[in-house]
Amino acid sequence: MHVLVTGAAGFIGSTLADRLLADGHRVTGVDNFHPYYAREVKERNAAGLAAHRNGRLREVDLAVDDLRDVTDGVEAVVHLAAQPGVRGSWGRSFASYLDANVLTTQRLLEASRELDLHAWIYGSSASVYGDDATTAVDETALPAPHSPYGVTKLAGEHLAHLYRRNYGVPTLSLRYFSVYGPRERPDKAIQRFLHAAREGGSIRLFGDGSQRRDFTYVDDVVGATVAALERAPVGETLNVARGRTARLSEVIETIGLVTGRPPEVEQAATEIGDVRVTSAVIDRAARLLDYAPAIDLTEGIRRQWAHVQNHPGS
Ligand SMILES: NC(=O)c1ccc[n+]([C@@H]2O[C@H](COP(=O)([O-])OP(=O)(O)OC[C@H]3O[C@@H](n4cnc5c(N)ncnc54)[C@H](O)[C@@H]3O)[C@@H](O)[C@H]2O)c1
Repeated sequence: MHVLVTGAAGFIGSTLADRLLADGHRVTGVDNFHPYYAREVKERNAAGLAAHRNGRLREVDLAVDDLRDVTDGVEAVVHLAAQPGVRGSWGRSFASYLDANVLTTQRLLEASRELDLHAWIYGSSASVYGDDATTAVDETALPAPHSPYGVTKLAGEHLAHLYRRNYGVPTLSLRYFSVYGPRERPDKAIQRFLHAAREGGSIRLFGDGSQRRDFTYVDDVVGATVAALERAPVGETLNVARGRTARLSEVIETIGLVTGRPPEVEQAATEIGDVRVTSAVIDRAARLLDYAPAIDLTEGIRRQWAHVQNHPGS
């Protein structure tokens, strides 16, 4: 297949692009190299794609640029370009979340109307569920985002549904839960903690460490996305998670064990918009995608630590 991957220089997009190329697909990757984190990091992420004979990388802003060249001839779309991050989505910066998460999705869907596609996958998020979860949520739970970021991700899901119903674009949504692993964004907890272990210095922990997350290793997320591309369960919305939670305090402990350098923790107040728990039922993805996450937290952190040590600029 010829797959268009948006956000192809980012954490998940670049890992997906590499996997698709390794599987023998053709990949057009687009990214606007948004300076939210360093361009050099993104260039390194996408180096494999840019150099591959079946890959091409285009610097394109999905919110404004003409999309005909990058959509020409594609057979499937995975839309991962976004402005991620819960904490930054309040105040004036909400406008950039609207552009990157809502407008880009609408423009890409418009550009997809006339294409002959096998699947159009929207990279959604656990953040659509909100803060009410005390037990694991399945996809029938009523979305109630707890942050402006979550609102924009939910809007993207709705747009994807609308373009399927009205124009037949074969959309489906995957709700990713707390993805970590090599190339993780520098603002995310595990990557920040591993950087602190590498460079020395304390780590900043928002909240008391009792918040729980369904941490999901990036290769499992990419595996689910590839399965969704192949099987194309059009119209579905699926949780993609590990199906098990860990407290942030346990993550810090595991990082101490894996790195041999127990981090020094500096406690900060809980950030507005951060939820207490993310926890998913993953039965639907298991049934429709044969999804079975394989990497546990300790092994995942071990692999990410190896990557952080071998990539000094990461
Ligand atoms: N990382 C996670 O834990 C997680 C969890 C749930 C959902 N998601 C979703 O997965 C997707 C990928 O997340 P990530 O962690 O890899 O983020 P990332 O920031 O590493 O990647 C996103 C990429 O999109 C690009 N981008 C932003 N606006 C663009 C635009 N207008 N045009 C073209 N490119 C643009 C950025 O430059 C960036 O490289 C996002 O949609 C995010 O909402 C991520």
